[in-house]
Amino acid sequence: MSDEPVDSADASLLDVSGLTVEIPTPRGTIRPIDNISFRLERGDLLAIVGESGSGKTLTGLSLLGLLPEEARVVGGAIRFRGEDVTRLPEDRWNKVRGSRISMVFQEPQSALNPILTVGTQFREIFDSHRPGMEPDERERRILDLLASVGLPQPASILRSFPHQLSGGMRQRVLIAMAITLTPDIVIADEPTTALDVTMAGQILSLLMERNERDKTALVLISHDLGIVRRSARRILVLYAGRLVESVSGDRFFKEGPSHPYSRALLLSRPSAGHATKADGPLLAIRGQVPPLWELPTGCGFAPRCPKADERCFRETPPWITTGSGEAALCFYPEVPEGSEDAA
Ligand SMILES: Nc1ncnc2c1ncn2[C@@H]1O[C@H](COP(=O)(O)OP(=O)(O)OP(=O)(O)O)[C@@H](O)[C@H]1O
Ligand SMILES: [Mg+2]
Repeated sequence: MSDEPVDSADASLLDVSGLTVEIPTPRGTIRPIDNISFRLERGDLLAIVGESGSGKTLTGLSLLGLLPEEARVVGGAIRFRGEDVTRLPEDRWNKVRGSRISMVFQEPQSALNPILTVGTQFREIFDSHRPGMEPDERERRILDLLASVGLPQPASILRSFPHQLSGGMRQRVLIAMAITLTPDIVIADEPTTALDVTMAGQILSLLMERNERDKTALVLISHDLGIVRRSARRILVLYAGRLVESVSGDRFFKEGPSHPYSRALLLSRPSAGHATKADGPLLAIRGQVPPLWELPTGCGFAPRCPKADERCFRETPPWITTGSGEAALCFYPEVPEGSEDAA
C-alpha cells in the first residue's frame, strides 16, 4: 500500500509504514500490531474499526509514543511530517505529544486525574507547552476552549473535580484538552461509548466540526458503526493486529467493503437490516478472534471465513487493489462492479 518512496518535500502529515509491535507475554511473544501501513493527510477523517483486541488502541498509542512499557516496535516506521518518530527520545516526544498529535483516551475516568480540578489540569498543559503565557491570557483561553466544546458555565467547570461532572461533560473536557494546543492530529479512542445516543451524536459533531474548521486530522477509533457511518471518509479495518482493508467510508456503507471480515463486521451491526441489501437475520461472525499467540499460518481470518480455501490457511494473502486508493488483504476480495481490472 504505502511502500512507494515518500518525497520528503511533500511528505504526508503522517505516514505509518510496516509498523510492527511485539509484546512478550507468558504465553509467548505476541504481535498485536503486525505490518500496518497507512497515511494521514491534513483534514483527513479516518476511522479504525475491528473487534475487541484487534489492535485499535495500541495503534493509536503507538502514534503518540505511548505504547505499554513492555511493548517494542520491532519493525517499520511512523513518519510525522517526514521524520521517523518511532525512536524519538522521550523529551522530544513530550513536545510532539499534545501539541502536534493528541489523544482522547478510551477511558475518560482514568484519563483525568481524580484529585486535581479541571482547571489545574488545563493549566498544567499550558505550563508545560506554553510556559511564557500570561496567566490572564491562559485563563481566557481555557474558558474559551470549554465554551467551544459546548460546556455551559465554564468557570464553575474549572473549579470542579472530575467526579463532579457527568460522563458527557468529562468527555467534552477531554476533547477540549486534546485540542488545547491546536494539534495537527487528534486520535479519539471510543469517544462515545460511555454516552447515551444523543450525547454521542453531540460529541461526534464536535469532533467533526474541529476536523472541518481547523483541518485537524481526526482518527476515530470506534466500535459503533453508526458513528463511523456519519463521519468517516476512510475506514481501516483491523483484524488480529493486521490491517485487512482500507476503504472509503462511502463504499463501506453503500456497495459494501471487499474483505470478507469487513463484510461480516458490517452485517453484524445491530441496524444492518436497514442499511444494506442483505436484509434478513443478523449475521453474527462465527467463531472468535484467535488468541494472538495462536494465530494460524496464512490468513488469520481463514478459520472464520466463508470464502476460505486451503490456500488461505497456508499462505499470507496479498494486498489486492479494490478501488481507487482502496485495497484488501485477501485472495478473494469482493470487488465492486466496474473495477475488476483494478487488481
Ligand atoms: N500491555 C499489554 N500486554 C500484553 N498484551 C497486551 C497489552 N496491551 C494490549 N495487549 C493485547 O494487544 C491486543 C490489542 O489490544 P488493543 O487494546 O489495541 O485492542 P482494541 O482493538 O483497542 O480492543 P478494544 O476494542 O477492546 O478496545 C489485545 O489482544 C490485547 O490483549
Ligand atoms: Mg481499545
